[in-house]
Amino acid sequence: MCLFLGFEYKASEKMADRVRMPSAASIVARSYPDKIIGIENTLPWHLRTDLQLFKKRTLGHAVIMGRKTFESIGKPLPNRVNIILSRSKLDILDEYPSVKWAADPETALYFADVDSIISGNKEFFIIGGEQIYNLFNKFMNRVFVTDVFCGNINGDAKFDVDFAAGDVGKRSEWIIKREEEYPKTVSDDYPFRVTEYRRRMPLHRYRVKEEAMGRVPDVEAFWLSKDMHLTHVDQNDAQLNFWESLDQ
Ligand SMILES: NC(=O)c1ccc[n+]([C@@H]2O[C@H](COP(=O)([O-])OP(=O)(O)OC[C@H]3O[C@@H](n4cnc5c(N)ncnc54)[C@H](OP(=O)(O)O)[C@@H]3O)[C@@H](O)[C@H]2O)c1
Repeated sequence: MCLFLGFEYKASEKMADRVRMPSAASIVARSYPDKIIGIENTLPWHLRTDLQLFKKRTLGHAVIMGRKTFESIGKPLPNRVNIILSRSKLDILDEYPSVKWAADPETALYFADVDSIISGNKEFFIIGGEQIYNLFNKFMNRVFVTDVFCGNINGDAKFDVDFAAGDVGKRSEWIIKREEEYPKTVSDDYPFRVTEYRRRMPLHRYRVKEEAMGRVPDVEAFWLSKDMHLTHVDQNDAQLNFWESLDQ
């Protein structure tokens, strides 16, 4: 077994061309107990402390979001590669180099994998909204859930995962790693609780070299656009090492 930028790959005959990809995590704030996350493309609350936690966790990592969530934020999240899912090409790509357009979930995962590998991150984040959480739920190994104690509210988007439920007669797939309560304050509309869930049996994704290299036509441009993001890894070395290490 060898390590490159913290990622394992197995050099046995069968696994020679397989590399373990970074892990998907997600972050969501939802009303308790109704699981509402948004209304008319906006958040139903203002929780400054929770936004600060979100920023601290995601900074420097790739984030995947839906086109509607991107529009609700209004601009790219700074110091993160923003991967936006939309079936139509985004017209803001020239304006914001940190934005990557993904026309399908596979391309979004590919961009997140590449960014994480060359940035030395073991994880990237799925940050909503409802459609995008639903697309990627099966890949998430770690989920930060903020339960907002706001009572019953109207909403049109939900995060409907039940972390306590298991298949009939089986225990939950999830364990609680950490939980913390926060009070209502002048800058937090409601009290809330943040729970970190970990998947009991993490799902590992692998790629083979040929698939990864041939996946996106503008991969060269993607590497080049990473200049502003790479501080601790030399871009070209990382790119070369990553692929060449598979041959060793
Ligand atoms: N509370 C929270 O933590 C939180 C976090 C994030 C968002 N939100 C809220 O969630 C709401 C938005 O959620 P939403 O579900 O309506 O929208 P969304 O998930 O943010 O974005 C949906 C869009 O993603 C694109 N998309 C979806 N599936 C795709 C696929 N398979 N391939 C390519 N593109 C795909 C489509 O864009 P096109 O139509 O352009 O093709 C679709 O309209 C807002 O109210 C927002 O404020 C809450």
